[in-house]
Amino acid sequence: MKISVFGIGYVGLVQAAALAEVGHDVLCVDIDAARVEALEQGIIPIYEPGLERLVVENHGAGRLRFTADPEEGVQHGYVQIIAVGTPPMEDGSANTRYVMAVAGAIGRAMTSEKIVVSKSTVPVGTCDEIHETITAELDRRALRALGFHVVSNPEFLKEGSAVSDCMKPDRIIIGTDSADAEAVMRELYAPFNRNHEKMIFMDVRSAELTKYAANCMLATKISFMNEMASIAHLLGADIEQVRLGIGSDPRIGYDFIYPGIGYGGSCFPKDVRALIATAAKAGAEVNILKAVNQRNDAQKRLLFELVQQRFEGQLSDKTFAVWGLAFKPNTNDMREAPARVLLEALWDAGARVRAYDPQAMNECARIYGERPELVFCDTKEHALCGADALIIATEWKSFRAPDFALVRKALRTPIIFDGRNLYNAKQVAVHGLEYRSIGRPE
Ligand code: UGA
Repeated sequence: MKISVFGIGYVGLVQAAALAEVGHDVLCVDIDAARVEALEQGIIPIYEPGLERLVVENHGAGRLRFTADPEEGVQHGYVQIIAVGTPPMEDGSANTRYVMAVAGAIGRAMTSEKIVVSKSTVPVGTCDEIHETITAELDRRALRALGFHVVSNPEFLKEGSAVSDCMKPDRIIIGTDSADAEAVMRELYAPFNRNHEKMIFMDVRSAELTKYAANCMLATKISFMNEMASIAHLLGADIEQVRLGIGSDPRIGYDFIYPGIGYGGSCFPKDVRALIATAAKAGAEVNILKAVNQRNDAQKRLLFELVQQRFEGQLSDKTFAVWGLAFKPNTNDMREAPARVLLEALWDAGARVRAYDPQAMNECARIYGERPELVFCDTKEHALCGADALIIATEWKSFRAPDFALVRKALRTPIIFDGRNLYNAKQVAVHGLEYRSIGRPE
């Protein structure tokens, strides 16, 4: 099937590569000509395990191509997938400007029937607006008879495992009220719909809301656990024991109940705020979502507060080793990363940072530029040199079993602040290290 994908960000690029991998003929379109040029040369703009191979091989096989020309994109695909960003506006609501720009381009250039698929995370009602925008363009061109359907098909991939999430989805949500569009979507995703039925068909608005409901539910689980962690800490209980205790109930489950320093990334923070804004416009009261958001903002400051308390506010002459900058492991993404809140608070308090992250140091340098209070280190051990204490902000696998004796020797004050509960206190204490973590007794 011929497919065009508009937007070569995380969602667009991974989905396009996955569709090409199963044999579809995919053309990716992006207004960023430099990005298009780089991809044509096999340079992948993001770090995502397995993505480079998928892109390079399918590009080599001629099934995955890139262009900066929207008209070419519109002509190519029978299916037109919109996967551009929906950045937050000041009130938290999602800005659908780029989505509508693609819809306009489709309406201006289409000369044959199309199935338009909205994959971006968009507020409920956006597919109706896409429909109106395309219709208006067709009217202008006196081509109203040209058939098209707008389908909602939200994406559920996770950064760090985006390729496998896309190749083996746990569900494929399709919002449409057209039997024709349903048949096309079935054919499009047939190669991914193996072993058991993964496709769930529903009306367009329910599909749009499903995306927000899923992310907000997961964010709620995390904020709930973070709230439990603060209670556990005050009561002398261990949140990690509590986690295991409640996770064993299949109705609760072990997933997404890890306490930490708040959820980051390009999705949860933005989507929770966007649904709060959408609900407010619709006149709905959303106290749970507001509390989820507030708890997360507070949680992101927690690690800094632990440091500040321990050093009694005297941070101006201190240097901290920070392990982990990305918002989670296996990505170089620092969007809304808790580490950013930590770094900025440390700098505001006059402290210096020696940072190490396996993937996100270039991204961190891009965000913060060169500054004396931030030194990037080649290894996690190097970050410890001359540091007063160690702070862990991301749970990369390579941080799980450090040489504690070396950590003890390198630090001026033998203490680890662990925002991800990687170790247990006894294990660390054996090496003469103090240990502060989230929601556990000291
Ligand atoms: C999230 C969803 O998990 C995907 O299903 C969704 O498709 C995606 O957003 C999206 O809307 O595009 P992602 O942002 O890549 O995926 O990352 P997650 O693995 O969900 O982690 C989000 C944040 O929650 C991270 O900062 C992570 O550290 C934190 N988290 C996660 C916790 O603090 N505790 C947990 O138990 C789980």
